[in-house]
Amino acid sequence: MLTVAVLISGTGSNLRALLEAASEPGFPARVVVVGADREADGFAHAEAFGIPSFEVPYSSFESRDAWGAELDAQLRVWSPDLVVLSGLMRLLPAAVVDAWAPRLINTHPAYLPEFPGAHGVRDALAAGVAETGASVIVVDRGVDSGPILAQERVPVLPGDTEHTLHERIKPVERRLLIDVVRRIATGDLDLASFDASDA
Ligand code: GAR
Repeated sequence: MLTVAVLISGTGSNLRALLEAASEPGFPARVVVVGADREADGFAHAEAFGIPSFEVPYSSFESRDAWGAELDAQLRVWSPDLVVLSGLMRLLPAAVVDAWAPRLINTHPAYLPEFPGAHGVRDALAAGVAETGASVIVVDRGVDSGPILAQERVPVLPGDTEHTLHERIKPVERRLLIDVVRRIATGDLDLASFDASDA
């Protein structure tokens, strides 16, 4: 059984979908802990599923590196096989990436390498593209620049706002994420072949 830690910053709706999938009999992975860089609303999902959680508040540390060191220490307590960034809105310090990659994956609401960064949905709308997408990648030291594990196109519809478009992308992200976690757990997808740590 693959053990998974999930890191969030916000509502954690994708986390919730993974928790639901992982509670199905026969799913080959389970979430062992949920962490966040702030008092995230998504902790409620962890609590609902009886999953422990930890908070490493970014604002309590004097530097990104100091924050990352504590985040790394917390993760090591649980020693997960896989770390999933599911809406963690912080760049991880290189030391944390190097410690966990390639067993460190991220979901992103755009068709990477298009529209990386914190505002993938907003940037796609501003660019006026007809379609954007969702991606699941291995995290490397760059910003959403790691190897792509799964991605799918999502159309931009007339009248879309950042909210409506994001809400249409998220179900696709969830499906891709759950499928990637399942494939990693079954050995169908071998992360060892993605050495993203020296990117
Ligand atoms: C998701 O769309 C995720 O891909 C995105 O934040 C959202 C979190 O939603 N992450 C990024 O944009 C990272 N660059 P949720 O909290 O409802 O799961």
